[in-house]
Amino acid sequence: MCGIVGYIGNENAKEMIITGLKSLEYRGYDSAGIVLNRGGKLLMRKESGVIANLEKRITKKDFDGNLGIGHTRWATHGAPVRENAHPHLSCDGRIAIVHNGIIENYMELKEWLIKKHGIAFKSDTDSEVIAQLICVYYKNDLVAAVRKAIAKMRGAYAVGVISSDDIDHIVAVRKDAPLIAGIGEGCNYLASDIPALLKYTRDIYLIENDEIVVISKEDIKIFDDDMTRVKREKMHVTWDAAAAEKGGYEHFMKKEIYEQPEAVNQTLEGRINAKNEVKLDGIKLTKKELDAIDRIYIIACGTAYHAGLQGKTLIENFARIPTEVDLASEFRYRAPIIDKNTLFICISQSGETSDTLEALREAKRKGARVLSVCNVMGSSVARESDDVLYTWAGPEIAVASTKAYTTQLVCLFLLSLYMGKTKGTLPAKEYGRIVGELKKLPAKMSEALGTEEHVAKLAKKFFVREQIFYIGRGSDVGTSYEASLKLKEISYINSFAIAAGELKHGPIALINRGTLFIVFATQDYLYEKMLSNIQEIKARHAYVVGIAKKGNKRVKKISDDVVMIPQCADEVASILAIVPMQLFAYHIAKLRKRDIDKPRNLAKSVTVE
Ligand code: F6R
Repeated sequence: MCGIVGYIGNENAKEMIITGLKSLEYRGYDSAGIVLNRGGKLLMRKESGVIANLEKRITKKDFDGNLGIGHTRWATHGAPVRENAHPHLSCDGRIAIVHNGIIENYMELKEWLIKKHGIAFKSDTDSEVIAQLICVYYKNDLVAAVRKAIAKMRGAYAVGVISSDDIDHIVAVRKDAPLIAGIGEGCNYLASDIPALLKYTRDIYLIENDEIVVISKEDIKIFDDDMTRVKREKMHVTWDAAAAEKGGYEHFMKKEIYEQPEAVNQTLEGRINAKNEVKLDGIKLTKKELDAIDRIYIIACGTAYHAGLQGKTLIENFARIPTEVDLASEFRYRAPIIDKNTLFICISQSGETSDTLEALREAKRKGARVLSVCNVMGSSVARESDDVLYTWAGPEIAVASTKAYTTQLVCLFLLSLYMGKTKGTLPAKEYGRIVGELKKLPAKMSEALGTEEHVAKLAKKFFVREQIFYIGRGSDVGTSYEASLKLKEISYINSFAIAAGELKHGPIALINRGTLFIVFATQDYLYEKMLSNIQEIKARHAYVVGIAKKGNKRVKKISDDVVMIPQCADEVASILAIVPMQLFAYHIAKLRKRDIDKPRNLAKSVTVE
């Protein structure tokens, strides 16, 4: 979720690029940098932290040029320090690049560049390989060198490139990461997102996948991957700045719900290789160490705790290690049995949640090895853990967690598959089946987003309710908890989530005529039991909305309404079933006119006990 800005025109480059980067602040960042071409010399400044830190370093009068590129970085590979900030220069200092995305095969490219070309790398990033690759291929033709470099790269990227030899062009390429070119008067622009340009122009070209764009002061030329010139209609942006930040969505929460197929894809990317092997960057656990682990604690708060509930089932099923899930706020104050054979898994989007951090510290003091699943590189949880598996969801701005949750689930799948395979507890056929299901997830999540229209109608019907129940069995219990929390926090409706089997042990007494029950029935092996639960509730005149896999006709028959999620294996249903429920909560909150992105009394990062 990094931000890219480029400018070519007059001596305004520095100002325009910095202003553009500031407008992309909402994308989240932890460092920023800029490189200008001043008459054939590349001038570069970069700094960690806020953009103001960068500005302090470029007050010198001679930091000027008529073209340049800038970047705000959200760390994925390498800590958020100055060395890892973009732009990156080639080792001869002639090529500068900025990059948004992830280069999946950067390790093998890096090794090749070191061994074959003796290149000394200056950063821990995947992005630096792009600058070095282009440099290796550069023979006074920047476009040709960029084309040769991207032919070697796998992954997602929007890249802006300049060369000290060429004071007239910026070259950019795009694959699975956003990129636009802006049309100015006597100048032109490049950016990853519309808000970066709104102050300067409203006329833009949307750059498509596999296209190369060559920007000069006078024109913008777009080419396809065969270098055939592409004719693109220009788009006139009518959005205001606030709408543009949200990519045209009304709220960040909605935008983040819709970003889930891409976030899941990014989280999987580079972690399952062509041989279907799970390769986990940042996890150093060997077979010997794994075999020695006799107990696992998963600790987290809120939504991350709900992901942990699914993690327990996955680890116990695939790796056969007894696993307990606990709320961080509780774990801190009991006397858990921990020793050097205990693995402590900490799940946190922000990496700064006080309860989670203190539980982590307590586990470390008692000698446990700490592995964290985290979304923010360089956060306290990440820094204090022995191993970190990052969710590559990009910054989550809405207080209610959505894409962080689904990517946490994906990470827990990857981790438990890795453990099961390494320990030899997961049969090869099972392993292959689950890997296959994970690979299909991004497309199925897009399909699950297709439920929005139906779910919005349900929201219209029920938004005046003051009480809603969610029930399920197996992994649907965790999904019920998460669906209920989403509704509570943004709509302020009193909702309850209950393991369906527990209903008759008490909560069934709460059912009145018309009481609304959302019933998850996504687990084939528990399907009959859920049908009985529905009958039980219906017999007491409740209203039932079933959540079932496409084709499950019996739920449809006995429920008042059904939301269908895509066909999938039971194991991954939790990742798909939550999508319509995030949308349901969203639409109810909208109809109740709530402050969706900033619900009352809540903070995005809970840094106090
Ligand atoms: C709910 C939500 C919270 C967080 C919880 C933990 O939508 O966002 O319940 O999940 O506060 O936060 P992190 O994951 O940052 O530790």
